Amino acid sequence: MSDIVQRINQLKKEKNAIILAHNYQPEEIQRIADFVGDSLELCIKAKETRADIIVFCGVDFMAETAKILNSDKKVLIPEIKDIECPMAHQLPADVVKKAKEKHPDAMVVVYVNTLAETKALADATCTSANADKVVNFLDCEKVLFGPDRNLAYFVSKRTDKKIIPIPEDGHCYVHKKFTLEDVKRVRKEYPNAELLVHPECNPEVQDSADYILSTSGMIRHVLNSDKKKFIIGTEVELITRIKLELEKTGEEKVLIPLREDAICDPMKRITLEKVERCLKEEKYEITLDEEIIKKARVAIERMLSAKL
Ligand code: 13P
Ligand code: SF4
Repeated sequence: MSDIVQRINQLKKEKNAIILAHNYQPEEIQRIADFVGDSLELCIKAKETRADIIVFCGVDFMAETAKILNSDKKVLIPEIKDIECPMAHQLPADVVKKAKEKHPDAMVVVYVNTLAETKALADATCTSANADKVVNFLDCEKVLFGPDRNLAYFVSKRTDKKIIPIPEDGHCYVHKKFTLEDVKRVRKEYPNAELLVHPECNPEVQDSADYILSTSGMIRHVLNSDKKKFIIGTEVELITRIKLELEKTGEEKVLIPLREDAICDPMKRITLEKVERCLKEEKYEITLDEEIIKKARVAIERMLSAKL
């Protein structure tokens, strides 16, 4: 074990801290984290933890969600600059307010990839692992859904409710890169491979995939499948994550990225040095308005209680 990893572990013990990391984090962070998961699993873990300090290795909305679920705990993020998920900033609270005025009979479901003040206006949040189930769980006919237009498409194919996307064109710049041309190319090159894509992908890419799954859904699928070859249609680091899991079982599988340049820059801002500094100096701390926390928690709790 390297010196820095030893120091991080020591600090963690002294301060009763836990390190949570998203599946897109760099390998060195995945290796030192206490738990690595998709957005839904991270929400559940953040809610259950008994640690005094949560060090969140991910993007802004994920650390904010951990804070909303743990207002009495210290939630830290090792880097504060350029860690915003651009999609989360595409649905400001005033857009939700206007949409609610226009559709007073609709309920509001927002992706966890949103700002805390946007969550505070929602009836429920959802993640890519449960979006269709949350929408179907709600007692209404019409749902204002945002910010991801592609996730809205995914949900609309799995519900009888009317889905109204807010804003019109919300998207993830990483998943938006995948095209039908990419699909045709990999299908030709790897005819025996299964194509797994994330619901943030464009409709035509979703429609041409074998499976549409959240990041952890993809991990489980690869680990449990008899198949040997998979094309991964999400951020490239998910391949690192699956390889680390395969290392534990000794099984060999071939993992091919749908595009090599599917890289989420805000997810790559955290390093071991920053994690050590974060634990030592207890910064950067996530702080949110108490009223916002209270309201946003109701929306997240409704998602978690939806018996998914
Ligand atoms: P998951 O919840 O599937 O991990 O997705 C989060 C995300 O930001 C995908 O871009
Ligand atoms: Fe946001 Fe896209 Fe990065 Fe996910 S991959 S954190 S949606 S920018």
